[in-house]
Amino acid sequence: MNYDFTFGHRKSSVHIEQNIPDLGDILAEMKPERAIIVCDTNTAGLAESVRGGAEAEICVLPAGEGAKNWQSIEKILRMAVSAGLGRDGLFAAVGGGVVSDLCAFAASVYKRGAGLVIVSTTLLGMVDAALGGKTGFDMFDIKNFAGTFYPARNVYMPLAALCTLPPREWRSGLAEIIKTLVIDDSFYTTETRGQLLALKGALTGEGTPRTLIDEAARLIGRSVTVKGRIVENDPEERSGERMLLNLGHTFAHALESAAGLGRLSHGEAVAWGLSRACILGVELGCTPVERSESIRAVLEELGYETGSPHPALADGGAFMRALKDDKKKTGGFFRFVFPARRGACIVTMDNDSLDLIEKTSGLI
Ligand SMILES: NC(=O)c1ccc[n+]([C@@H]2O[C@H](COP(=O)([O-])OP(=O)(O)OC[C@H]3O[C@@H](n4cnc5c(N)ncnc54)[C@H](O)[C@@H]3O)[C@@H](O)[C@H]2O)c1
Repeated sequence: MNYDFTFGHRKSSVHIEQNIPDLGDILAEMKPERAIIVCDTNTAGLAESVRGGAEAEICVLPAGEGAKNWQSIEKILRMAVSAGLGRDGLFAAVGGGVVSDLCAFAASVYKRGAGLVIVSTTLLGMVDAALGGKTGFDMFDIKNFAGTFYPARNVYMPLAALCTLPPREWRSGLAEIIKTLVIDDSFYTTETRGQLLALKGALTGEGTPRTLIDEAARLIGRSVTVKGRIVENDPEERSGERMLLNLGHTFAHALESAAGLGRLSHGEAVAWGLSRACILGVELGCTPVERSESIRAVLEELGYETGSPHPALADGGAFMRALKDDKKKTGGFFRFVFPARRGACIVTMDNDSLDLIEKTSGLI
C-alpha cells in the first residue's frame, strides 16, 4: 500500500510493505551521492538487512528515550562528515520513534538539509512518529525541547519488523491507533472495533504477531491516512487542526511526567488520557455518553488502565504541576481535545476548570 502526501512544500510517500526495504533499491531510485544508516542496538540487525550489499556506514545508538539527546545528534553528524556525505547525501533511519526523530533532526540541519528516508520498525513509529515531519531531541530535561519540521521523502513500514516487537511496544502503538481512529470516527464501526480487539494477543504476548500482521496492516493504513490528511492541512501546527492529534495527550503528558519519565510507555499514558478525556468531555457536554462508553469499553477490553487515579500516580501535586506547565506552552490556557459528536473538538479552559480536571483525574 502506498500513500502520497504533501506537507507544506515537501512530498512524503509512505510504503506499507511486507518486507524490509533494500537500500540498494532506495539508492537506485533517489540517487544520492552517498548514504548513512542510523539505528539503535535493537534494530542493528534490521539495519544490516536494509543495507544488504549497498555501501553505507551504520551509526548505532543506544536504545531508548535516554539516547534522545544532543550527544546522539553529534554522533550522527560526525559519522555523516567522516563518510563524506554532501548536501545531496542520504540519511536513512532504521528504528522506532527515537531513532527516526534523531536521524530526521540530523538530516534537517546537515548542510542546511540533506536527503532523508525512514524505515519505521515499531507500531508507534509507523502510525505516528515517522509520519508528518516533526523531528527532535530532549534537552534540559524537557522532552522534544529542540526540533524542526522535516518530512522524510519516503517512509517505509515493513510489517515483518513487527514480528519481533515486544508486547509493551504493541500496547504503546495500539493506543495511538485508537486515538487516531476516534478523531476520524472510523473507531465506532463494528468492523474497526473487531480489528482492534483482534490484536489483543499481541498486547499480552499470547498471540503470534505473524498471524496478527494482516489486522495490524489495515489499522496502520487507516491511521496513516488520517494523520497524513490532518498534517497536510496544518503541517506546522499553526491553524490548530494538527492539535486534534493531541487527543488524550494533555492528561497523558502530565501522567508520564508525574509517574517519572519512562515508567509508563507513551501509549499506556495516552490510553489513560483518552479515557479521562472521555469522562471530562461528557461532563462538559462535548462527548456523547455512548461514544465515551464505547471508547472506554475497548480500552478496558484490551487491558489498558482507565481508572482514576492512575495506579502510577503517587504524587497528585506533580501531576497538577505538569498540567500547569503544559498550560504555559499553550498561551496560558488548558487546551483539551475531546471525542465529539463528529470526530474530535478542541476546547480551551482556564483556571476555573482546575477542580473539574482534578476530579476527572481522581485527585479529589
Ligand atoms: N515525530 C513525531 O511526530 C512523534 C510522534 C510520536 C512519538 N514520537 C517520539 O517517538 C518516540 C517513541 O517511539 P517508539 O515508541 O517507537 O520508541 P523507541 O524508538 O524507543 O522504540 C521502542 C523500543 O523498541 C525497540 N525496537 C524498535 N524496533 C523494534 C523491532 N522491530 N523489534 C524489537 N524491538 C524494536 C527499540 O530499540 C526500543 O527499545 C518518543 O521519543 C516520542 O517523542 C515522535
